[in-house]
Amino acid sequence: MDNFHVKKIIPVDNNLSLKECQKLLLIEGAALGILDENREITSFVEVGELDKALKFDLEDKPISLISTPCKEYRPSLQENATDDYFIAKSPQNVDFLVKINKKEEFFVNIKGQYQNSLSEDLQEAISFCSKIADEINLPIYLIGGAVRDIILQKDVFDIDITVKESAIKFAEYMSRKHPETCAIKGLHEPFNTAKVSIKTKNKEVNIDIASARLEKYAVPGSLPIVQSIGCNLKEDIIRRDFTINALAMSLNHTTFGNLIDYIGGYNDLKHRQLAILHPLSFIDDPTRMIRGVKFAVRFDCELAPITKKLQQECLKSGIFDNFCGERIKSELKQTLNLNSPKCYDRLILDDIYKLISTKINKNKITTTTGEKIHNIINTHTSHIKNRSLIWLIYLGVMLDGLDNEDILKIAHQLNLSGIEAKILLSASTIIKNKDILLKSTTKFEVYEFFECHFLESILIVLASSTEPQIIAYIEEYLNKLQFINISTTGKTLIDKGFASGPEFGYILRDILKEKINGNIETKEDEDKFLDNISIIDYQMKC
Ligand code: CTP
Repeated sequence: MDNFHVKKIIPVDNNLSLKECQKLLLIEGAALGILDENREITSFVEVGELDKALKFDLEDKPISLISTPCKEYRPSLQENATDDYFIAKSPQNVDFLVKINKKEEFFVNIKGQYQNSLSEDLQEAISFCSKIADEINLPIYLIGGAVRDIILQKDVFDIDITVKESAIKFAEYMSRKHPETCAIKGLHEPFNTAKVSIKTKNKEVNIDIASARLEKYAVPGSLPIVQSIGCNLKEDIIRRDFTINALAMSLNHTTFGNLIDYIGGYNDLKHRQLAILHPLSFIDDPTRMIRGVKFAVRFDCELAPITKKLQQECLKSGIFDNFCGERIKSELKQTLNLNSPKCYDRLILDDIYKLISTKINKNKITTTTGEKIHNIINTHTSHIKNRSLIWLIYLGVMLDGLDNEDILKIAHQLNLSGIEAKILLSASTIIKNKDILLKSTTKFEVYEFFECHFLESILIVLASSTEPQIIAYIEEYLNKLQFINISTTGKTLIDKGFASGPEFGYILRDILKEKINGNIETKEDEDKFLDNISIIDYQMKC
């Protein structure tokens, strides 16, 4: 049966600060109705959300930061239910917030899809864990990304299992009872998680087991703190990022394959919607904005309207300007390594780039920039040392125009490796010295200009440049000049009777120069060149 809740509404302007709003919320059981530009109440804030935001030190931020539009889908925390909110007026013209909690019949079993998505070895390892959990009456679930991927019928390689009690005790129990099959690979006490290895017919399978846990965030964007371990599954689920990742599948024998969906994740997955679970989700963890871009591209999803609005408000508030950090790097890397123009475009057009640096010049970037970088990467794949560096090329183009000091600061905050930072700085150096390049009169000068730079840095410049001459020089270097080699070696010079010495380097370099400039072509040409040199001239250079 549907469930009704009615709350008195206190109307407030959408730019009123959270602190001012708190003063108004003294009427018990009331909610805030946020007035839009037409002076109509179209969104609301409940007391719990306001209290949480105030604990985060956000009292001067506008209330629009955490307001939820009415009449839009909003995840509920009750199993298989959705909440509808709307504003009603009493005959005395007083506004009320009405919440209808619709509990719908919902039963989905995904055992068939599970069998299609997981290898036999993974299934065998999971069966082993399930059997032992059944023996001790322990509820056990597959959780998170694996359940999502099973519903999408994608291959699943990594699995996370959650148990209602202590994961560590469960892992220890399994390994004690069946040491021939189960070995503990690692235990992490603070989060009560365990990594075990299970021996199957063909190989050893690693499985991560976690205890259901409740988390809270001490300050916006901090790492979560574990509040309780061994809580119920619902509490573990509602700490998660998107509804599509907040699904679980029962692994106990009698209920095997039953989907547990407290917040409408299954429906969102079917409708390709990415929805966060509560209005403060991005404030808890801004990396979720980048994760949203990643999932949108991987699963062809769109942000749900309310999620999009909360993301925009969060970015507009400036709380996370220049936030950077190692976790941002990890998500950026995974997202941009998908090598999808859409990822780059979304990061820029939706202002998510502000998490990296507000100095990034959004206006320099057009809607075709992502496509251009993508095409350059695909054409020049062989020039990228390994595919895990692709993200850096996108990042380099994003940082075009920033000075070295800012790039260094970002590299430091993102905790880039030495080589990653050098690739970005090297691209910036090329751009700063482009006038030297444009003054080149020979191909060898072009070669000399680029040879000391990483190929990845050159690709960043290629993707950022609009000047035809620069693009032409880069294309020539990448496609031709860098591959030009000479046949002469130090041994050739000794065979010709030259006494070995530091002048050899100069001689070989000059042969290369002549070859790049097109003055010599063949091995015979190189020999002729050597016949005409004066060794004394070279000795004087040293
Ligand atoms: N999670 C979260 N907030 C984050 C990161 C992760 O709530 N900032 C939760 C999500 O429920 C997610 C789970 O932790 O499903 C595991 O995270 P992760 O391994 O990063 O992602 P998956 O969803 O497993 O996706 P994939 O590995 O396929 O990218």
